[in-house]
Amino acid sequence: MPKKTSKRPFTVIANWKMNKTISQAQQYAEKLPEFCEGIENSIWLAVPFTAIHPVRSSLPDRFRVGAQNMNDASSGAFTGEVAGEMITDAGGDFVLLGHSERRSYFHESDEFINRKVLRALESSLSVVLCIGETFEQREAGETKEVLSRQLSLGLASVRKEDLTRCLIAYEPVWAIGTGKTATPEMVLDTHGMVRSSLSSLYDEESAQSMPVLYGGSVSASSSEALSKIEGVDGFLVGTASLDPETFAKIAQFASK
Ligand code: PGA
Repeated sequence: MPKKTSKRPFTVIANWKMNKTISQAQQYAEKLPEFCEGIENSIWLAVPFTAIHPVRSSLPDRFRVGAQNMNDASSGAFTGEVAGEMITDAGGDFVLLGHSERRSYFHESDEFINRKVLRALESSLSVVLCIGETFEQREAGETKEVLSRQLSLGLASVRKEDLTRCLIAYEPVWAIGTGKTATPEMVLDTHGMVRSSLSSLYDEESAQSMPVLYGGSVSASSSEALSKIEGVDGFLVGTASLDPETFAKIAQFASK
């Protein structure tokens, strides 16, 4: 593996998905800072809407708190939906968009995700745009094409100056929640593809300054090796983020 040269900040994001009541979330938030002592990486928590305010109120400022989804409209008759402004009002400052569970279970298209990206940026949120290929797409040799399509459609009309509030999370769909992590070679290769797509969409400087995180069954035992791969600027962690001590271990390995 080539030695890492990037100076991009390392960001480790917990994706709690549909887990934790308010009291469970608060207990987690009370324990996390102690486990994270001495860790210099940026640590963000993507929590259920109901937990944004309680978690924000329980955590020191160094931790960022955000949502896992939002609607593409600013307000209105969209029963059951949540707007970007409501996330900022609750104390959240970022949102995950385009997660593969939203794409597959809720049939979110790249165009719909793009409208959410634009609305999130307008609502002063940072955006973590999730992309990734399915097992069938990888087997068919379509990974590069799929990733560059998800990036170009997902970031359509996003201005260059707003890229400082955008992160990309590359998560191979077949690695999410399955215990299967992509090999270091695959991760190196795909992160390179993402970076070169970003460079053709914008320019090399923008591509080099955008953090690209890896996600998909990241664990306390796999994170150290993954963190050393060129082009990996952090992690999006699902299952292993549900316990604060394990999550802190992942974030800690990454800082070394
Ligand atoms: P996982 O989930 O770590 O449980 O694979 C990652 C994600 O879905 O963001």
